[in-house]
Amino acid sequence: MGFWCSEVVIAVVIAALSTVNAQNLAYSPPFYPSPWMSGNGDWAEAHEKAVQFVSQLTLPEKVNLTSGVGWMQGNCVGNTGSIPRLNFPGFCMQDSPLGVRFTDYVSAFPAGVNTAATWDKRLAYQRGNAMGNEHRNKGVDVQLGPVAGPLGRSPDGGRDWEGFSPDPVFTGAMMAATIKGIQDAGVIACAKHYILNEQEYFRQPGSVTGYENIPAESSNADDKTLHELYLWPFADAVRAGVGSIMCSYEQINNSYGCSNAYTLNKLLKSELDFQGFVTSDWWAQQSGVGTALAGLDMTMAGDTVLNGTVPEWRIDDMAVRIMAAYYKVGRDRYWIPTNFNSWTNSTFGPQHALANMSYGQVNYHVNVQANHGELIRQIGSSSIVLLKNNGALPLTGHEVFTGIFGEDAGANPGGPNACADRSCDNGTLAMGWGSGTAQFPYLITPEEAIQTKVQSLGTGTVQAITDNNALSQMAEVASRASVCLVFGNADSGEGYLTIDGNEGDRKNLTLWQGADQVIEQVSAHCNNTILVLHTAGPVIVSDWDNHPNITAILWAGLPGQESGNSLVDVLYGDVNPGGKSPFTWGKKLEDWGTPILTKPNNGAGAPQIDYSEGIFIDYRKFDRDNITPTYEFGFGLSYTTFEISDLCVEPINAPPYVPSNGMTKAAPSLGNYTSPSDYVFPDGFSRIPEYVYPWINSTDLKASSGDPRYGLPSNSYIPPGATDGSPQLILGAGGAPGGNPGLYEEMYTITATVKNTGEVAGDEVPQLYICLGAPDDPKVALRDFDRISLEPGEEKIWNTALTRRDVSNWDPVTQNWVISKYPKTVYVGNSSRKLPLKAELPLYAD
Ligand code: BGC
Repeated sequence: MGFWCSEVVIAVVIAALSTVNAQNLAYSPPFYPSPWMSGNGDWAEAHEKAVQFVSQLTLPEKVNLTSGVGWMQGNCVGNTGSIPRLNFPGFCMQDSPLGVRFTDYVSAFPAGVNTAATWDKRLAYQRGNAMGNEHRNKGVDVQLGPVAGPLGRSPDGGRDWEGFSPDPVFTGAMMAATIKGIQDAGVIACAKHYILNEQEYFRQPGSVTGYENIPAESSNADDKTLHELYLWPFADAVRAGVGSIMCSYEQINNSYGCSNAYTLNKLLKSELDFQGFVTSDWWAQQSGVGTALAGLDMTMAGDTVLNGTVPEWRIDDMAVRIMAAYYKVGRDRYWIPTNFNSWTNSTFGPQHALANMSYGQVNYHVNVQANHGELIRQIGSSSIVLLKNNGALPLTGHEVFTGIFGEDAGANPGGPNACADRSCDNGTLAMGWGSGTAQFPYLITPEEAIQTKVQSLGTGTVQAITDNNALSQMAEVASRASVCLVFGNADSGEGYLTIDGNEGDRKNLTLWQGADQVIEQVSAHCNNTILVLHTAGPVIVSDWDNHPNITAILWAGLPGQESGNSLVDVLYGDVNPGGKSPFTWGKKLEDWGTPILTKPNNGAGAPQIDYSEGIFIDYRKFDRDNITPTYEFGFGLSYTTFEISDLCVEPINAPPYVPSNGMTKAAPSLGNYTSPSDYVFPDGFSRIPEYVYPWINSTDLKASSGDPRYGLPSNSYIPPGATDGSPQLILGAGGAPGGNPGLYEEMYTITATVKNTGEVAGDEVPQLYICLGAPDDPKVALRDFDRISLEPGEEKIWNTALTRRDVSNWDPVTQNWVISKYPKTVYVGNSSRKLPLKAELPLYAD
């Protein structure tokens, strides 16, 4: 295969275009040319080194950097071509957002949703850094994470747990901390899946059982919704210096995510001034030339490849962006050869698994876990959210008879890695399923950890029943136990795997494994029943919250390998719970108002998912419609009590907001383009079957391209302006990575006092919310938070600030952020609905 477009690929483009023309459908406007890298922000040095490197390359060498060699043709889930002449080995791209996927002797970290539940940016950084170290030491160049898409529009979205929270500011803060952690370890982070990738059903063409001929869905959102909600965390990722961004499978306003000139060229590369490279999700590249001109820089896994009708400067820019990310994180200093192979656990095997060729040692079994288990245990316990406590917790350690109930307390009989990509829910749940996973090095179950604890205390009896069908035995033990710990879980994952009819997205918000029956049975016989939940997101628990015999409820999420230890730390009070829920717990699925689309709604065309709720997802929607949740966003109890007082707001004399202006430089061209005869396969070259090479088959370009449009005037199929390398306008909202730097200027400083008024040490999370005042603004929207540790009686002052972006709305007319004339109010408290402190913001309209 050469680097020209195949006929199959073109057919897909044509199909996509006809969808765009349908009048009643959302439309994604063109934006060309694709912005070239400038070295803005702190990218100058990396840019310079990348330009130097790329200037030495021939066209096939550049192409090698930009395209994958094909699925299962290298060690990693994605591998680019190499540049042997310069001893450059190519890139290894590896999942996942919670550890190194598909290899041994690695750690299984807590999921993104748990990291969010800590509300601790420092822990998010440490986790990112530890994961980055593990990837680096396995020889990975790009860690495919963290996740800000899905953001969590629907509570039952299959991959919500890979990311952080449906709140954009919160997710943005977690993204930034994680990215810095990963990249400080010398590995490129890849923020994914950009953008509006909010459900698994219909994420790819033909991806849903029974609807195999249906194109990928189109997520349709307006400009304000894009900016104020879904783009926000990606802006934080770009500002944090992320080296790479993965475009998503589905369509955005009826244009595919990896060929969408509006989201890639305009929003990401122009407005957010993203300097790194855009890689496709695996096989998400739906066309050839169109994707390159729309801003895609690297194609993965490489089985679809680039078309030749792309200006030289665009190919140069792709290669420069890729190499700049490499230098930015110090890959030239930290690089080691990849020492594992994703496609076998055996020490020896084929280098090219798909072609079954080149046998040799492929796995070196390098142990990269270091002491990360300690951090994992800490994040696990810090992420536990105490939802209800009638004084049952902490346990005293003097319980004479501890009962443990439920399959979710015990081990998977097949071992923790029994099912590929965790595609079963047997035993305790500590990770969802799909590509966002890693192999467990071990998994401490709750049963094991509680038994060990009770034995070490030497005080009592402990009995566990982990067969959810053993209901009568449960009744018998529950009626004698002094405390009954009952476990339930709910799993979700990526759509290429289905568990029990859940095609990635959850079918409902109930517990799995028959856990509701178990809880009912145990709580009917035990008046001190403590419920522990391992769920990928919210489940319906209103019955259990109201149940008099259920004396405490804990959400432990998807805590990773130290699950049981993290839980025991909280149950027995060695750790005082300080986690807060990163999402809302409604009483029924309809409360969220943003259902997953599970049936086509556009005939044989692309299903249309209109984001008509705008920015009102999760707590913003509950607040607007006065729906009382079981537990609100930001809620979580402690074993001590806190008081937050003395809110102080002071305006800062911030300079006026100046829209960026002026022109970029012209696109640089780095040369080395010779004649087509230099790009054909070298004489006598022996090809690995199905391997993607950068060379073409012959100097007959028409035949090599297979493109029926070859030779037609390029303006008949190239969008206007797409090949124009002359200086371009800088957008008013742009000008620097993350957007106009004025957006990040502080406009108000805010302080509040947090005091521990109880008897034991603990952590409190003061939360700052804003009401921007217009009728279509949320009642409150989170702006900042911190996790503060306090001894009994101790108080600390929390210092925070509001930036211009924090007090602005997106104005689709001027295409910039503006401070509206409406009076604005800030609130501080410890959940989205417990906001005792309030202050009007001194007005500051633009
Ligand atoms: C997923 C990505 C993942 C990639 C490589 C895709 O199916 O959507 O998140 O990084 O596969 O495994």
